[in-house]
Amino acid sequence: MQMNEKLSESRVDVVVMAAGKGTRMKSAKAKVLHKLGPRALLGHVLLCARALHARQAVVITGHQSEDVRAAVNAMPEAEKPPAVGFALQEPQLGTGHAVQQAAPLLAEDGVTVILSGDVPLTQPETIAALVAAAAGQHLALLTVKLANPTGYGRIVRNASGHVQAIVEHKDASEEVRQINEIYSGILAVPTAKLKRWLARLDDNNAQKEFYLTDIVKFAVADGEAVQAVVTDDEPQTAGVNSPLQLAELEREFQWRQAQAFMTAGVRLADPKRFDLRGELVCGLDVDIDVNCVFEGTVKLGNRVRIGANCVIANAQIADGAVIHPFTHIDGEAAGVSIGAGALIGPFARLRPGAKLGDEVHIGNFVEVKNSSMAKGAKANHLAYLGDAIVGERVNYGAGSITANYDGANKHQTVIEADVHVGSNCVLVAPVTIGAAGTVGGGSTITKSTAPNMLTVARGKQISIEGWKRPQKAKKA
Ligand code: UD1
Ligand code: MG
Repeated sequence: MQMNEKLSESRVDVVVMAAGKGTRMKSAKAKVLHKLGPRALLGHVLLCARALHARQAVVITGHQSEDVRAAVNAMPEAEKPPAVGFALQEPQLGTGHAVQQAAPLLAEDGVTVILSGDVPLTQPETIAALVAAAAGQHLALLTVKLANPTGYGRIVRNASGHVQAIVEHKDASEEVRQINEIYSGILAVPTAKLKRWLARLDDNNAQKEFYLTDIVKFAVADGEAVQAVVTDDEPQTAGVNSPLQLAELEREFQWRQAQAFMTAGVRLADPKRFDLRGELVCGLDVDIDVNCVFEGTVKLGNRVRIGANCVIANAQIADGAVIHPFTHIDGEAAGVSIGAGALIGPFARLRPGAKLGDEVHIGNFVEVKNSSMAKGAKANHLAYLGDAIVGERVNYGAGSITANYDGANKHQTVIEADVHVGSNCVLVAPVTIGAAGTVGGGSTITKSTAPNMLTVARGKQISIEGWKRPQKAKKA
């Protein structure tokens, strides 16, 4: 981004409006803390401030201010400006009143950018253009033309096209209401001027509020040219007021990500049924079927295929691996790794610490946790491997489990190379099955076995001759 050069030296302070109640969300959670993709709405706005190299952000809180503060403090340092301050607005007397509360935290040498905590899709490039239009001396407004401008502040221009005022919908005449260019809620302004104009606000208007938008008419009265940057990308200025709008912006966010992947050559069966809530890195010729959800950090190698309805979080999947439908992979902190050419699923579950080598096969209803499986090992049906080390080419039978937990501690199971474990076995850890050994189906193994042996540990099969089934007692 070219803007970084200039702005890193600049003195941009971002004010984030986040005091409003969010009544229409009908939620106990503060509106700006609802999630869009990987992070809270407010998190997107702070990330944008970070990308702008803002030297600080001031978050204006009001409703649920404690929750909002705590959430902001818990956000990753890399996703917010180096300094984040808070200003409490109590009660909420309008957008101008809100910014008045932040003013003491803003140094006069800077340019203030006003953003809204509930407008998550604004791009740093757009704000950089706005800051450039402000050029350290002007008030610059981000505006957008809407097919239906009802409810918004209208941009009133004179005959030569210069901005004269923002008139709120409720204060507007029928004539002004015809204007479809509206104020987005985003502006940039030299802080010293902002402070002078804030001091002149009053609440003589239809809503009896202190309107931030009144600073436009003060600028004009002071003989200052007001800049307007018109964007044609409406979602960048769209706010969230209701669950419907949240869902609409979520789809927009996902659609934008999906387009970027497709441009990079990733084949999405349906970009409208793709959800990435984190970071995804894809190699060449990756295919992703419908309804997959990616979270945390996921890396897919070349030619990886992901079947429909998979949920994959914090995992690395090497070249040519195939993840069949309905597979759930969640590496959490420990991660999951899957080797080249591995076949996973359908209906597999890979948990933290599953390290699967090349060409490993994991079939339906198989769960693997904190276990390594070397090249070519297979567990194809209905099995559990926990805290196990599995050698090359092992075949782990249907219905077999490692009993890794004694009720207090976890223990390890070692299954050496070329072992065959029959169906429905219980390997009671700690235990080692020696290389190339065979465990008979239905065995409960409590002692380690030597290499190359067949081990069977179950009741011996007997047949009883002449045995009669019980008969129903006859009534007397
Ligand atoms: C405001 C603008 C309007 C613009 C619209 C764009 C004013 C007077 N009007 O409308 O021109 O078209 O945004 O969406 O500024 N907030 C506070 N404290 C308050 C009031 C609001 O923090 O006392 C916050 C809200 O939480 C929200 C933002 O400011 O994040 C905007 O408030 P909102 O009521 O949504 O906008 P309007 O005042 O309707
Ligand atoms: Mg309002």
